Amino acid sequence: MRIGTISEFLNLKIIIIFILQFLIIVGSLGYKTWKERGDECIKCHSDMEKITKLGYPQFYVTDDMIKKETKHLNIKCQDCHLGNPRAKEPAKAHEGMLSIILVSEEGEKLKRIETYPYKLIPSGEDKIRNMLPQVEYDGKLHPHPQVRNVLWHDRDPITFNYDPTITKKTCGRSGCHPSEMKQFHTTIMATNLRQRTMKTWLDPYGPQN
Ligand code: HEC
Ligand code: HEC
Repeated sequence: MRIGTISEFLNLKIIIIFILQFLIIVGSLGYKTWKERGDECIKCHSDMEKITKLGYPQFYVTDDMIKKETKHLNIKCQDCHLGNPRAKEPAKAHEGMLSIILVSEEGEKLKRIETYPYKLIPSGEDKIRNMLPQVEYDGKLHPHPQVRNVLWHDRDPITFNYDPTITKKTCGRSGCHPSEMKQFHTTIMATNLRQRTMKTWLDPYGPQN
């Protein structure tokens, strides 16, 4: 084959294809960034009047609360929860969102809002157990009959195993904690390696020793 110069291969059609490819790549990256930087979660959740009107004042969350509770000074709801921060409707905004997982007695994921739409906060002596959903009868609080367990949102919703793909999109993304994620993924805690042989959480040989 004869060796020529690039300009011999260029014609209007090829130039247009190159420009279109460029625009598609820049456009889709720009759209992704634009979508991720939305502010609708905080706008709705930190508007007490609005969230009360929608029927859920218990899910009132402000920027100050996030800063104080998470000790992260410049972070948005979607950085941890995912979802669609440009959507103005709760149902649309919550599509693909990560949130607390209530596990049923049968080992299935329950719908948070349908099962127990109340606050989950530690209280009293037995802080952890008291945080589980409870119902009141006979003048006493009892464990919620449908809820066997409550898990953090870093779990696969079917197997309930730790899901590293969730961490990659949240805590472990670049600019946040990628090296901590990498290290964590080698631990007994993340891999569940030899978990059955453990007797305690903290002592050697436990996952958090
Ligand atoms: C227009 C108001 C509105 C917007 C926008 C909105 N939410 Fe909500 N959110 C609600 C309401 C109302 C509830 C309770 C009822 C429900 O779940 O639909 C709720 C519930 C929640 C819950 C707890 C319930 C659950 O399913 O676990 C979380 C977590 C949450 N929102 C996070 C977010 C995040 C993150 C975003 C943005 C991606 C967002 N919300 C956008 C109104 C909103
Ligand atoms: C640093 C990470 C982080 C940020 C930022 C964050 N959250 Fe959360 N949020 C969590 C975690 C972790 C929980 C505990 C439950 C879980 O696993 O989802 C939680 C719980 C909640 C709950 C209670 C869920 C329930 O079912 O009871 C609501 C509502 C909520 N967040 C809304 C928001 C909103 C709105 C914002 C932004 C203003 C926000 N969060 C920002 C990590 C975060």
